[in-house]
Amino acid sequence: MSKYDSVSAERVPAMARPVISVELPPGPQGVPVLGWNVEALRWSKDPVSYLARLYQEYGTLSVWNPQRPFRVFAFAPEHNQKILANPELFQVKPDRKGKDQAQSSAMMTLRTGLLRLDGEEHKQHRKLMAPAFHHKQVEAYAEMMAAMTHKMIDAWSLHEVRDIEDDLRRLVHRVAMKAVLSLDDESEIQTLNELIETMLSSAPRAFMLPFDLPGSSYRKMMKSANGIVAFLQALVERKRPNADACRDILAMMISARNEEGTGFDSAELIAEAYNALCHESSASTLVWTLFLLAQHPQVYEDLVEELSSELRGGNPGIEQLSRLPLLDRVLKESMRLIPTAPFGTRFNVEPCQMGAYELPKNAAVTFSQFITHRLPEIYERPKCFLPERWETYKPTPYEYFPFGAGRHNCIGAAFAMLEMKMVLAILLQRYRVAVPPNLRIDHIFQLSLRPRKGLLMSVAATDSRCARSPVTGNVHALVELG
Ligand code: HEM
Repeated sequence: MSKYDSVSAERVPAMARPVISVELPPGPQGVPVLGWNVEALRWSKDPVSYLARLYQEYGTLSVWNPQRPFRVFAFAPEHNQKILANPELFQVKPDRKGKDQAQSSAMMTLRTGLLRLDGEEHKQHRKLMAPAFHHKQVEAYAEMMAAMTHKMIDAWSLHEVRDIEDDLRRLVHRVAMKAVLSLDDESEIQTLNELIETMLSSAPRAFMLPFDLPGSSYRKMMKSANGIVAFLQALVERKRPNADACRDILAMMISARNEEGTGFDSAELIAEAYNALCHESSASTLVWTLFLLAQHPQVYEDLVEELSSELRGGNPGIEQLSRLPLLDRVLKESMRLIPTAPFGTRFNVEPCQMGAYELPKNAAVTFSQFITHRLPEIYERPKCFLPERWETYKPTPYEYFPFGAGRHNCIGAAFAMLEMKMVLAILLQRYRVAVPPNLRIDHIFQLSLRPRKGLLMSVAATDSRCARSPVTGNVHALVELG
């Protein structure tokens, strides 16, 4: 039983409830006439800074008061447990009446993967997908990950300055294409990559102006979504006859059957394959980790020392990865300080209690890894990068949850950890990377928390001197660089 169990009891009958407040938690006031639109704009423009401001002004529980949408922001570990350990009450979809108009469009197909499912449907999908993401299965991709990492850094040269974010993003996309789809053909990889990139880059504008006009972002988004669905549909049909003989994630999902002998239909396969391809968070975590290492030279030195004494320049085997404790702590601390999936939202399908307050049905309740991971009552010196804290600290799943918690926790966590460790172990033994002095680095939330304009890094020999560089920009809101 965890220390938060006492607050997780659900839907206590009214008679037995402790006295609760009929008042609402504190929160910003809507602007006259414009109402909550101003607040919604601030929230959508820079959600991470917005959450930090809410926490600073109102503490761990706040609310947009009482007009619709009823939006709650809950940051304490006991709130996280209440939300994430009770998936029947806090669901990923709002309780909307009627079928979504756009249900049949390609866009909707791509948006109906695991993270959009609730209840029995989610349970069934997750069960069918679990074997393909089991850590034993994932380990089979280690050599491929290592080979692709070498290919990436073979193209680097000493003394150049490169956008390391661009390199890492391409790398994780290639690894995903291979692991999920077994795609080798360069032109197929490029076609699918371009379709995904066009769809994702047009999406923000398309959602703001959802009009199907020639040349509009909306039309571009829909066209590329159709292209992705058609591409994946063709791949599913191509793989079906021999799926049992293949070990990629899509083939395993094609072959998967439940107790009744039923498997995924084509639309479900397309949705889940598309979701399994989106590795934005892994790329962003790698980028921030390299940035944090470059800005903490002693940790960088110690990590290179650990890697070279255990691996002696070679690729890490699965066994060896478990003997790299500093690498593990560095990644844990990087994901604590800069969680690339920094928040999530659920909707309560019934009125319920949150802390001392009563929430009406269908509130949008946002929790945040970003805020919880830097609560001073949990983490000493919360804004500092201190991998050594993980030598002794054992948080609960609601105090530290970069991969989420509860029923929707990240099914790709073992994959991501293996990939990130492999990439760092190989890259750091080969080159020393550093941030050029006075670089401006701003953060942005765009599918994941990432640097707004990529991250330039200089490439040097491993024995070159390591020093922290001064940087500007709102990256200072993410980490205290001393
Ligand atoms: C550092 C890398 C990653 C991070 C930080 C991350 C984070 C997360 C988080 C926080 C959630 C839960 C979201 C919520 O509860 O609202 C999640 C779910 C999910 N992740 Fe990841 N993820 C990462 C990598 C991956 C990879 C590589 C894959 C695929 C191979 C993946 C596939 C998924 C899927 C399918 C779900 C939905 C699970 C469900 O709803 O049951 N993730 N991830």
